[in-house]
Amino acid sequence: MSIRSCRHIVVLTGAGVSAESGLGTFRDKDGLWTRYNLEDVATPEGFRRNPELVCEFYNARRENLRKAAPNAAHKALAAFEQRFQGRFTLITQNVDDLHEKGGSAAPVHMHGRLDELRCQHCATVYAYEAPIAPDSVCPACGRTGGQRPNVVWFGEMPLYMDVIEAALADCDLFVAIGTSATVYPAAGFVDRVRALGRARCVELNLEPTAASSLFDETRHGPASEVVPGFFASLMP
Ligand code: OAD
Repeated sequence: MSIRSCRHIVVLTGAGVSAESGLGTFRDKDGLWTRYNLEDVATPEGFRRNPELVCEFYNARRENLRKAAPNAAHKALAAFEQRFQGRFTLITQNVDDLHEKGGSAAPVHMHGRLDELRCQHCATVYAYEAPIAPDSVCPACGRTGGQRPNVVWFGEMPLYMDVIEAALADCDLFVAIGTSATVYPAAGFVDRVRALGRARCVELNLEPTAASSLFDETRHGPASEVVPGFFASLMP
């Protein structure tokens, strides 16, 4: 496709884009959900039942993130965004900040961010560096307890869905990168785009996914190779 005819590109990323930065995926061999019970650590009920366990789980993930650096895929997306003359919307299911560290301007974190907390009393969201503890104090309202990671848990509504819906309806190229297409609503984005019939849909993933047949084009391989390769091929 000619980049000159492309007005708006929407990119959706998943855990696969950060895999080569040393952050585990969820469903691959040794993925997080093969080692932890997601009902215990990634649901509001799990947090009510055992906030210590949930804090421990997220503290370990925050520690891994501190040691991680963006890889060639994050950097290629940022470099392309800077050169592209049209609109570029980067939606990520990842709670890491590697797109920002790679230079992306404003990724839409539909599943929240690992480096932020949210107060369940006053809804204030704030950056937080120290280890999370169930009895920590909200810097805004001063109440104790109820400080939770600002991430979307199972059974909760993803963030920024109005912005995302508008971008999906407007784009003429949709690229899904490193996501297994199993968790909705993100897994259904390709269907939404296809239903409108205007955009070309491309999947870049290590291997075929359950959704591969829905895309006009699929490229398989590690994100650090296929992402720079694909975006370089778009530029004249
Ligand atoms: P998954 O773990 O479900 O899928 C990761 C995908 O990345 C798989 O299709 C892998 O084949 C692919 N992959 C692995 N290594 C790769 C590499 N080096 N290069 C390219 N692709 C690679 O992760 P997500 O699809 O992101 O939500 O999971 C979606 C959501 O489920 C997450 O945001 C999280 C999780 O439960 C919540 O916690 C709410």
